[in-house]
Amino acid sequence: MSALDLPAGQRVVVAAFGDDPVQAIEQLAALEPQAAPDPATLAAGDVIVAVQSASVGWVDLLMTSGQYQHMPEPPYTPGLEYAGVVAWVGSDARGLGVGDEVFVDPFLAGPRSLGAYRAYGGFASYAVAPWPAVRRIPRGLSVDQACNLLGNYETAYHCLVTRGRLAAGETVLIHGASGSTGLAAVHVAKLLGATVIATGRSDAKLAIVRAEGADHVINTTRDDGASGVCELRDPVKALTGGRGVDVVYDGVGGEISIESLRCLRFGGRFLVVGWASTPAVAKGRGGRGAPNANQLPTNLIMMKGIDVLGCPTAIATVNDPQLRPPRLAQVLAWAESGQIRPHVSHVFPLADFKRAMLAKWRGEVVGGCVVHP
Ligand SMILES: NC(=O)c1ccc[n+]([C@@H]2O[C@H](COP(=O)([O-])OP(=O)(O)OC[C@H]3O[C@@H](n4cnc5c(N)ncnc54)[C@H](OP(=O)(O)O)[C@@H]3O)[C@@H](O)[C@H]2O)c1
Repeated sequence: MSALDLPAGQRVVVAAFGDDPVQAIEQLAALEPQAAPDPATLAAGDVIVAVQSASVGWVDLLMTSGQYQHMPEPPYTPGLEYAGVVAWVGSDARGLGVGDEVFVDPFLAGPRSLGAYRAYGGFASYAVAPWPAVRRIPRGLSVDQACNLLGNYETAYHCLVTRGRLAAGETVLIHGASGSTGLAAVHVAKLLGATVIATGRSDAKLAIVRAEGADHVINTTRDDGASGVCELRDPVKALTGGRGVDVVYDGVGGEISIESLRCLRFGGRFLVVGWASTPAVAKGRGGRGAPNANQLPTNLIMMKGIDVLGCPTAIATVNDPQLRPPRLAQVLAWAESGQIRPHVSHVFPLADFKRAMLAKWRGEVVGGCVVHP
C-alpha cells in the first residue's frame, strides 16, 4: 500500500528503442510492478490518476523504436492518452476531486508532452499529470472513448480545417479511414458538411466506416491479387461527376499518395497526414534522418496546380500555440453535444499489451484500441 492506501499496480516499461516496433514490442517491452505514486514527492498542482483505459495509438507503436519524431528517454512507459479516476489531488489543483472520471490531455502530459510529465504513460495503473491537463470526461463518453478523443479529433481538425480549409459541399478522399485518425477525419468531415469517399483494404472494416458516416467506400486491394494499391482515378472520378475530389486526406502514404494526385481536381489540396503503409521512413533505434522518405511526382503537382500541405498537428501547435484553443474548444463542444463518439473496436487487459500493440500494428483495429490496467 502507498501513503494513500492505494494498492500497488503494474506498468509497461520499454527498456530501449528497438530496430522496429515489432522487435521492440516483442523483446524490449515488459510489464513491471508499479508502486502507487507517493504524494509527498509530488507538486501541489499534481493529480494522481488511477488509469482505467489507455489508447494504443500508431504513435505509441512508432515510439518504441524511436521512429517517431518525438522521443521519450527509455526506459519509459507508453500510453500517450489515458482516462480513469482521480485518486489524489494536490492542494493547488482546481476543479477536481477524488473519484472524478477524467481523461488527460496528451499535449500536456504523457510521453508525447514536453517536460517532466512525459515520464507518466497510460500503460500503467497510475499516472501523474498537472491539473490543467486533467479534464472531466464529456457527458456520454466512456473511458475507452475519452482516451481516443483529443489526439484523433484534434489531428482531424488540424488537417481538414486548419490546413485543408474543407468546406461544406466539397468532397474529400480519406485514406486509412478505418484508422484512429482516419475515422475521426470521417466524422469531422461529415460535421463540416463534406461528402466523404473513404478507402481501405478490407470490406469488413469499410462496412463499419460506412456505418460511421462515409458516403462512399473503395477497397484499394488489387483485383489480380498482387500487392499494392488498385487504380483509383476512375472510381473516384465516377463518384465526383468526372471532376475529381477537392481534398485528399492521406494517412497511408507510399503508393496511394501518387495514385491520389490523379484523383484530385485542378487546384485541389493534398494533405500529408502520415504514412501508415511505410513506417520505416525513419531509422530504427532512434536514429535520425529519413532514409526511406516517401516521394511525390512534381509533374502531377505542377500540371494540376495542387496545394500540397504538411499537417503535423503537434509540431504546428508548438510553433503556433494559438492554433490550439479554437480547435480544442470545437472538439470538446462536439463531444459534449454528442456529435462525435470515438469508435473503439478492441479492448485488452494491460497484461495483454503485446497482443494489443500487435493487433494495432497489423491493422486489425477499426478506430480505437485500448488496454485496461
Ligand atoms: N498529422 C498528424 O498530426 C498525425 C497525428 C497522428 C497520427 N498521424 C499519422 O497518421 C497515420 C495514421 O495514424 P492512425 O493513428 O490513424 O493509424 P491507424 O489507426 O493504425 O490507422 C492506419 C490505417 O492505415 C491503413 N493502412 C493502409 N496500409 C497500411 C499498412 N501497410 N499498414 C498499416 N496500415 C495501413 C489501415 O487501414 P486499412 O487496413 O483499412 O487499409 C489502418 O487502419 C500514421 O502514419 C500516424 O503516424 C499523424
